[in-house]
Amino acid sequence: MTDASLPGRYPEIYAAASGDPERFWLQAAEALDWTRAPTRAFEPEAGPYGRWFPDGELNACHNAVDRHADGARAEQPAIRYDSPVTGTGRTISYRELRDEIAALAAVLADLGVAKGDRVVLYMPMVPEALVGMLACARLGAVHSVVFGGFAANELAVRLDDARPKLVLAASCGIEPNRVVAYKPLLDAAIARAGHKPEACLILQRPQCAAALSEGRDRDWAEAVAAARAAGRSAPCVPVSATDPLYILYTSGTTGKPKGVVRDTGGYLAALAWSMPNLYGVAPGETYFCASDIGWVVGHSYIVYAPLLHGCTSVLYEGKPVGTPDAGAFWRVVSEHKVACLFTAPTALRAIKKEDPEGARVGAYDLSAFRSLFLAGERADPDSVAWAERVLDRPVIDHWWQTETGWPIAGNPIGLGLLPVKHGSTCVPMPGYRVEVLDEGGKPVPAGTMGTIAIRLPLPPGCLPTLWGSDARMRASYLATFPGYYDTSDAGVIDGDGYITVLGRTDDIINVAGHRLSTGGMEAVLAGHPDVAECAVIGIRDALKGEVPCGFVVLKAHVARDPAEIERELVARVRDEIGPVAAFKLALTVPRLPKTRSGKILRATMKRIADHEPWTMPATIDDAGVLDEIGESLKGRGIGSA
Ligand code: COA
Ligand code: AMP
Repeated sequence: MTDASLPGRYPEIYAAASGDPERFWLQAAEALDWTRAPTRAFEPEAGPYGRWFPDGELNACHNAVDRHADGARAEQPAIRYDSPVTGTGRTISYRELRDEIAALAAVLADLGVAKGDRVVLYMPMVPEALVGMLACARLGAVHSVVFGGFAANELAVRLDDARPKLVLAASCGIEPNRVVAYKPLLDAAIARAGHKPEACLILQRPQCAAALSEGRDRDWAEAVAAARAAGRSAPCVPVSATDPLYILYTSGTTGKPKGVVRDTGGYLAALAWSMPNLYGVAPGETYFCASDIGWVVGHSYIVYAPLLHGCTSVLYEGKPVGTPDAGAFWRVVSEHKVACLFTAPTALRAIKKEDPEGARVGAYDLSAFRSLFLAGERADPDSVAWAERVLDRPVIDHWWQTETGWPIAGNPIGLGLLPVKHGSTCVPMPGYRVEVLDEGGKPVPAGTMGTIAIRLPLPPGCLPTLWGSDARMRASYLATFPGYYDTSDAGVIDGDGYITVLGRTDDIINVAGHRLSTGGMEAVLAGHPDVAECAVIGIRDALKGEVPCGFVVLKAHVARDPAEIERELVARVRDEIGPVAAFKLALTVPRLPKTRSGKILRATMKRIADHEPWTMPATIDDAGVLDEIGESLKGRGIGSA
């Protein structure tokens, strides 16, 4: 329950969405252009738990771009590309963006892409990536962006699941310490995958040109230039509101990632609501989301929401520190007159570490800047307090999942800032009926910890299903607590209705705001010929929040140097999953601690590694093993000393 005595318009708005969701969401949908306006908001019988705006029809690209390009915002910047890693930048107006998208869409259509076809993107933070996503949306095709920090195997798994007709890729991405050649990774992924895309459109970047494969690969710039010279452009194709706009893969509890499906109408309606009400941003203002288009936050708040709302979106190809310094975000905010910045707590911790007094903040004119939003991992109260002090503006923690597509909880500054409580992600957004449940699925009293669950139906914007599998959707999210969506996050709701998220209840860990499956890493370690068994846990890290640590038991006959095997294991995770896993610590141990029924005691291992008090589990098979775990951590910069 939320507290009706909270200030501002929030209590009234939340109550309106709960009391009459049909009316509330049909009204929210009026922010969009529909080719056929919905007459109903929700159809409870469709899909695993219902579908939003079942009889509506619209096009996402039209809503995000064309309606502004055809109207008063034609010459307003839609995108400000700011790339300290290449030393370049570019401003693209809504009109220019529409023309680029329409030309690329014509190329995609020539390559056979039509409504409902999937297109995988493997691209860095360049404008063409947004143009590619929106060109798919224009045709009613379904994009699936794969983050550039994932290796070939992860890309292959996604190719096999999404079965794209086409891949859009760049020749390389640029990290501060290296150029990441994407084309060899793409080639390796296609070689591994059972499903072969018919064609690949490759954007050549000057930092690393790729050799194109005869027959399959096309040069992006040449194809688009030819289309433009011939005056070609593709129109927006109306789709049903329930048709998928994109698939975004996220770590599941098994090695196989989950293909989160995003519908079109519900998603756009929820995003359009969030911009003025949650983020307090007006059309024409500049929004800077310092995430990556490979993540849900990037899809929603670099691409779709700012453009839908007629804002200017900053596309930043750089890091919070080192490109060139800890003032990078403040420079961007100042140069582009950013009203709202959205980043991950990790980025804030990195900046704080290099500039503890916030000296670089004062070097810039931040007069347009009103608020900082944080998400992706738990925002530690120290970092939030630090940011409030050096920025002298509201710092808002808000809670998200790839599955939900927009925040579950936050402090809706557009409705009137609510009191900020450090450590809490504030109150549920309209349509999210959030409860904390005990193991038996019963709601617990305020202030008691449990699993956070959302009463069905989920509001618009959230996943209607998993790609190709309603059954997996039900099994993964809806089966644990009948009538609820299981968030797999543990937490507490206090007497004011404020939600605190404490951590995952499954094997997912959060590394620098990136969601990773320890089960997936264990599968990679177990594939090493010398490994008998293994366990991966997330251990506390001052910068990244958590980092993975793998404990491995070698096969009895192995006589090789364990240090050499540990190095191979680190390389193996980097090659199979990717550098984003930040897997740098593999420790060989004689045995793993287990219960008498053979369950590995991961939670106790984590407490030991995190220097937290721990008690001997009553069910442990051999108590001496835990000492061996403590021993293995010594001298590695972690663990019990
Ligand atoms: N393509 C290829 N490699 C990538 C990549 C990409 N798009 N993004 C990250 N990587 C690599 C990094 O280069 C790094 O490789 P390394 O092991 O060779 O150093 C590795 O993946 C881990 O990356 P990350 O965990 O992001 O750390 P980092 O060292 O790149 O950056 C910070 C450190 C402080 C900048 C980082 O904590 C940060 O801010 N990350 C972004 C957080 C974020 O936006 N999360 C999104 C959720 S909203
Ligand atoms: P992702 O799907 O990558 O967005 O990761 C979602 C997970 O990140 C959630 O289930 C949480 O565990 C965690 N998370 C996201 N935002 C927050 C937050 N504001 N506070 C605490 N945890 C968060």
